[in-house]
Amino acid sequence: MTDAGFRAVYEAAGMYDRLLLPHYFGGVEDVELIRSWLKENYGAQTSALDVAEFGCGTGRMTEALAPFARTLVLADNSEAMVSAVARKFPDAQTFCADTTDAITSLLAAGRAQSFDLVTAFWSLSYPIGQFFEELTAAGVRPHSDQAAARGRAHAFVLGLLRLVAPGGHLLVLLFDAESPEQQLVTWAWERVAPFPAEGRSYTRDIVIHALRAAESQGAGSLTHTRRGGVAWASSGHAAREWFDGVHFKHHPRLLADADIADSVAEFIERYTMPNGGVALPSGVHVIDFCVGAHPVASLPDGLLA
Ligand SMILES: C[S@@+](CC[C@H](N)C(=O)[O-])C[C@H]1O[C@@H](n2cnc3c(N)ncnc32)[C@H](O)[C@@H]1O
Repeated sequence: MTDAGFRAVYEAAGMYDRLLLPHYFGGVEDVELIRSWLKENYGAQTSALDVAEFGCGTGRMTEALAPFARTLVLADNSEAMVSAVARKFPDAQTFCADTTDAITSLLAAGRAQSFDLVTAFWSLSYPIGQFFEELTAAGVRPHSDQAAARGRAHAFVLGLLRLVAPGGHLLVLLFDAESPEQQLVTWAWERVAPFPAEGRSYTRDIVIHALRAAESQGAGSLTHTRRGGVAWASSGHAAREWFDGVHFKHHPRLLADADIADSVAEFIERYTMPNGGVALPSGVHVIDFCVGAHPVASLPDGLLA
C-alpha cells in the first residue's frame, strides 16, 4: 500500500520513471521499435524533421526522435513532466497543455501541415477518454452525451492529422486493451465505473476509425500492426507498484478494494519467473498514417509516367 495521491505517477517528479516497467516486443524495448521505424523511414541519421510529440512524459521516447529533429515541439499536461523534458531538451519548444488544447493552439498559430512527424506514445487514450468521462479521485463520471463525445473524439484525431505536412507521418503507440494484463485492469476500473462501448479498446477504435475514414477520403494511408510482448518487472514488488501506481493511478477506491488486491496478487504470481522477475504479457498497437494522396502516393516511382 502507498500513500501517494491520485495521478501521482504523472504529477510527482521522478515517480513515472521509477514505476515504469520496460516493455519488450520481439526482444527490443518500445523505444527501440521507434528507433527502427525512424531508420526505416528516414534512412541513416537525418536531422531535418519538424517533429511534435504529445504526452511526451519525461522524454523517454523523445531520446529516439531528437537525433532526427530540426525542431521539436513537446507537450504534456503535467507540469512535472514538462519541466523534466525541458531540462533534457533545452532547444525544444515545450508546453504544458492538454493534448486537445495543444492541437488547437498549434493550429491557431498557423502550424497546420507543418510537421514532418506528429507522435504520441502511450498517451492518446487519456485525451480521448476525457471526451467521454471525467476521472477524479472521487470516481469516474461519464459525460451525458456519448454521441457528442464520439464526434469530438473523431475531430480530435483529424486535428492531429491536420498538423502533418504532405508526405509526413502521424505515429502513435497505443496499449493493447485485450491483453490479459489490461483485461484485469479493465475489470478493476469497471468496479468504479463502466467504460463507454465495449471496454477500454474504445479509444483505439476511435483512432483507427477516424484514420480509416481519412484514408477513404484520399488523405493518406494507414498502416496498423499489433505486436505481442512483455512488461518486465524485476520483482513482485515492482509489479505490484506498476499496477497500483500506473494502472490504478493510486486511485483510492481501487487501492482499498480487497478483491482487486487479491486478483492482482494472483496474476503477478502466475507470471513470476524462477529468478523472481515477473513477465507480464503485453501488447502494443503501432499506428502509422502517412499523409499524401491515396492511393497514388503508394505507387512505385515512375509507374504513372
Ligand atoms: C504513459 S505516459 C507516456 C509518456 C511517454 N510518451 C512515454 O512513452 O514514456 C502518458 C503521458 O501522457 C500525459 N497525459 C495524460 N493525459 C494527458 C492529456 N489529457 N493531455 C496531455 N498529456 C496527457 C501524462 O502526463 C504522461 O506523461
